[in-house]
Amino acid sequence: MKTKVLVTGGAGFIGSHTCCILLEAGYEVVVIDNFSNSSPNVVEKIKEITGKDVVLYEGNVCDKSLLKTIFEKEKIDVVIHFAAFKAVGESVRLPLKYYRNNLDSTITLLEVMEEENCKRLVFSSSATVYGSPKTLPIKEDFPLSTTNPYGTTKLMIEQILKDLKIADDDWSIAILRYFNPIGAHPSGLIGENPNDIPNNLMPYIVKVANKELEILSIFGDDYNTKDGTGVRDYIHVVDLAKGHEKAIEKVLKEKKLDCYNLGTGEGYSVLELVETFQKVNEVDVPYKIVQRRAGDIASCYADPSYALKELGFKAEKGIEEMCRDAYNFVKKSKN
Ligand code: UD1
Repeated sequence: MKTKVLVTGGAGFIGSHTCCILLEAGYEVVVIDNFSNSSPNVVEKIKEITGKDVVLYEGNVCDKSLLKTIFEKEKIDVVIHFAAFKAVGESVRLPLKYYRNNLDSTITLLEVMEEENCKRLVFSSSATVYGSPKTLPIKEDFPLSTTNPYGTTKLMIEQILKDLKIADDDWSIAILRYFNPIGAHPSGLIGENPNDIPNNLMPYIVKVANKELEILSIFGDDYNTKDGTGVRDYIHVVDLAKGHEKAIEKVLKEKKLDCYNLGTGEGYSVLELVETFQKVNEVDVPYKIVQRRAGDIASCYADPSYALKELGFKAEKGIEEMCRDAYNFVKKSKN
């Protein structure tokens, strides 16, 4: 019997790439998604890429009776929980929306998992839980804090999971702290394509290159970094998806709760990313320097050695491939 994975938010940016990796590795995949920030079309693309079928439930993870139906019908072995709201700025304006949705969905999911005796979980967290780290690179045992409600929901859920593990040692949980996922599937069939004006750097660069937006604003060039612009650990979304496969293997094998950084360990500045993007795609990305964005930190990159040691995970794709694949996806979807 194949292992069956329930993927919440499986039509989203990271979720869809993870579905592909899991299907290709021989897992059965069940997706629940309400398409609040994605579309049913993505599920068709996953099938096209892998030549394999996905069982799809359209609905909200806060809907307990739907979750019950899924668990009873599908006999789920392990869950990856991606579904969540993720826009930092919006979370500052609408904190209740974020606390209600991100916490409610997770608690509902955990209750059903407990009732159905499915106690293996991979959770999507974020490097945002490290707040403003005092030193770099960031290790998993660094102090945790947040600067916005979105980040706080991630940190609160981490705490809920730790409490759950203390209460019931049967749980097996991998908390994955993502650095900055960018890029797209090399097929160009799935990727990141926000409908609104993007908040994050790469989707913005792509829209400027594609002439959908006029000019990129770089938020500050007076940070204490190599060229004054912010430094981040960008990781190709396909590498990140592979990290989830490793985490699934881990929770199937060992009954423990642990946190893992998923990053490359390399920091690139905003200017380096823009320049690489222009070079590999032979396209112009006009930009201007503006003031710093509130809440941003100068530098953030992972120490990826614990994920390597414990999960056998190592990111392989470089920054050029990330830039090429991100642009390829948008060019292809435009045609
Ligand atoms: C952001 C979130 C983080 C979240 C992550 C998820 C903030 C403060 N942090 O990380 O909590 O987990 O996304 O993807 O929003 N930049 C520009 N111009 C732009 C956009 C960004 O110069 O138009 C710069 C930023 O100042 C930063 C870098 O690009 O130095 C990366 O920014 P972004 O892609 O938004 O990611 P983070 O802020 O690292």
